[in-house]
Amino acid sequence: MANALTSIILVILFCRSAAGLRTRLFSNKDWVLDADEGICKLMVETQGYACEEHKVTTQDGYILSVQRIPVGRSGEASAERAPVLLQHGLLMDGITWLLLPPDQSLAFMLADSGFDVWIANTRGTKYSRGHTSLDPGDSAFWDWSWDELVSYDLPASFQYVHDQTGQKLHYVGHSLGTLIALAAFSQNQLLSMSRSAVLLSPIAYVGQMTSPLARNAADNFIAESLYWLGLDEFDPRGDAVVNLLKAICKKPGVDCTDLLTSFTGQNCCLNSSIVDVFLEHEPQSTATKNTIHLSQMIREGTLTMYDYEDEDENMEHYGQPTPPVYNMTTIPNDLPLFLSYGGQDALSDVNDVQLLLESLKDHDGDKLVVQYREDYAHADYVMASNAKRAVYDPLIAFFKLQ
Ligand SMILES: *[C@@H]1O[C@H](CO)[C@@H](O)[C@H](O)[C@H]1NC(C)=O
Ligand SMILES: *[C@@H]1O[C@H](CO)[C@@H](O)[C@H](O)[C@H]1NC(C)=O
Repeated sequence: MANALTSIILVILFCRSAAGLRTRLFSNKDWVLDADEGICKLMVETQGYACEEHKVTTQDGYILSVQRIPVGRSGEASAERAPVLLQHGLLMDGITWLLLPPDQSLAFMLADSGFDVWIANTRGTKYSRGHTSLDPGDSAFWDWSWDELVSYDLPASFQYVHDQTGQKLHYVGHSLGTLIALAAFSQNQLLSMSRSAVLLSPIAYVGQMTSPLARNAADNFIAESLYWLGLDEFDPRGDAVVNLLKAICKKPGVDCTDLLTSFTGQNCCLNSSIVDVFLEHEPQSTATKNTIHLSQMIREGTLTMYDYEDEDENMEHYGQPTPPVYNMTTIPNDLPLFLSYGGQDALSDVNDVQLLLESLKDHDGDKLVVQYREDYAHADYVMASNAKRAVYDPLIAFFKLQ
């Protein structure tokens, strides 16, 4: 391992001395946005839908952008529209839900089906880089893992939508958006504001993840080496990460001719034009610390809070020498859940999903809908040309029953 690490550090040092530094120096300026810019203007109003931009401030000071599509395309305001919060996954943002044509994108379909749609954007992504006292150029701005999304981002977004609408929420998460909700539910959070939850490409246990890219990065402590070198922001478009990817792609068994496939698994149903739309807006930054947390879970097969890998430091943060466990069996058995997973998904591996389902085995039978799509991989859930019929229509039917 020491050898692998050394070569990785050399690669990074080389990259940084070249163009890598540019990413760090100019990252702040790149993200100063016009008030007129935003997902509403860019992706929603252009399709003929009304859209509102909202700001939600978390208890630890992050200013998150949230979009609301209050009515369907017809503009008709039906009396009672139940709110739905859409939460994207890792390295993505709220545009996740707007990539397909309007009659096939989940956000628009929900609005046209009578729901009040709210789109969340995680801290650190393009439209959620504000903070009450920190700046994305500060190391402290990136001092978080998904534990903080569980403790701060998700509760802030839920509370905001609940306050605005006076109603309990339906929730849809994709990928990391499922993990943070499951973790919150297991800690008895959000439940009083939740009506039901949909989990697409569910992530909880990841010890059996097959994605060659993610597994190689975890096994070779790539995220840790970035952290040691002071790259607190994990910017997938930045030179340091791009060059690391190139290094991983040269390893035997890793075929990166199609980068998306080597990360997510073989998606069945992506129309080539949607990959272009995707690349126009994604991928987005996250905290390097977050990728370390996920790497720990991939290596150990555990589902715990961030491990400082030092008993004293864990003690300081958690009052115990090892990080606390998120125990999925404590999710209330009567919470309505719709879970859909894919047979080709390299990030949400079927064996890992089985572990999650085992911990939900006492869930009330009529409160848990499980859908298995043999042909789906990770990106199909938000980009497949047949996602409307395969997943979204059943999902909307599920919401209407709750
Ligand atoms: C791909 O998507 C575009 C835009 O929605 C559509 O016009 C085209 O027919 C699709 N192509 C295929 C092969 O599905
Ligand atoms: C989770 O909680 C259940 C009881 O609620 C307990 O039996 C089980 O050992 C716990 N699992 C972990 C990993 O702590």
